[in-house]
Amino acid sequence: MTSTVHTAVVRPATVDDLPGMMALIHEFVRRGDILPRTELSVRMSINDWVIATLDGQVVGIGSLLIYSPLLAEVRSLAVSEQAQGYGFGRKIIDELLSMAAAYHIPTVFALTRVVPFFERMGFTVTEKEAFPEKIWRACRLCPIQDNCDEIAVVAKLEIE
Ligand SMILES: CC(C)(COP(=O)(O)OP(=O)(O)OC[C@H]1O[C@@H](n2cnc3c(N)ncnc32)[C@H](O)[C@@H]1OP(=O)(O)O)[C@@H](O)C(=O)NCCC(=O)NCCS
Repeated sequence: MTSTVHTAVVRPATVDDLPGMMALIHEFVRRGDILPRTELSVRMSINDWVIATLDGQVVGIGSLLIYSPLLAEVRSLAVSEQAQGYGFGRKIIDELLSMAAAYHIPTVFALTRVVPFFERMGFTVTEKEAFPEKIWRACRLCPIQDNCDEIAVVAKLEIE
């Protein structure tokens, strides 16, 4: 970003954001950072997505996948390269954790290769086996499940 004034917003996604979201998803799938998502699956789960925009352009995405009243997962988190380091990732995580808290979901996990980022967000490293729901639903279908290099991280929310 240059010294000119920019407008940055982090907010729930709407279907109007789909083109920008899909462009970002494709970019990060190509880099191997996030799992592929179809436009239909994003459209069908649009209420579970948060986006960051910079001057109206989608520069960040993240979603919350709810497994049960007790457990949710942060998925598809990505901030475009030119917008990294400006706090968008933190704001997206804050928003997703607020969504989980609004559902009174006390535990939110992620599988990630950027552990230090999640630690900055208050997550701690844990065992993947702590989340059999995930293993049952996604990992068992993954071709590299025996060589997975993703680390499980978890945040415990204080639910009133
Ligand atoms: C990880 C990612 C989402 C972070 O987004 P970002 O907008 O650059 O992060 P922020 O600017 O909000 O950073 C928040 C804090 O985390 C730290 N941080 C960010 N990326 C980090 C990294 N890779 N390693 C260590 N710390 C990191 C920042 O320094 C900052 O610390 P501070 O609070 O002390 O200032 C972004 O780098 C990205 O999209 N990476 C590629 C895709 C990816 O790996 N996604 C994760 C899939 S689980």
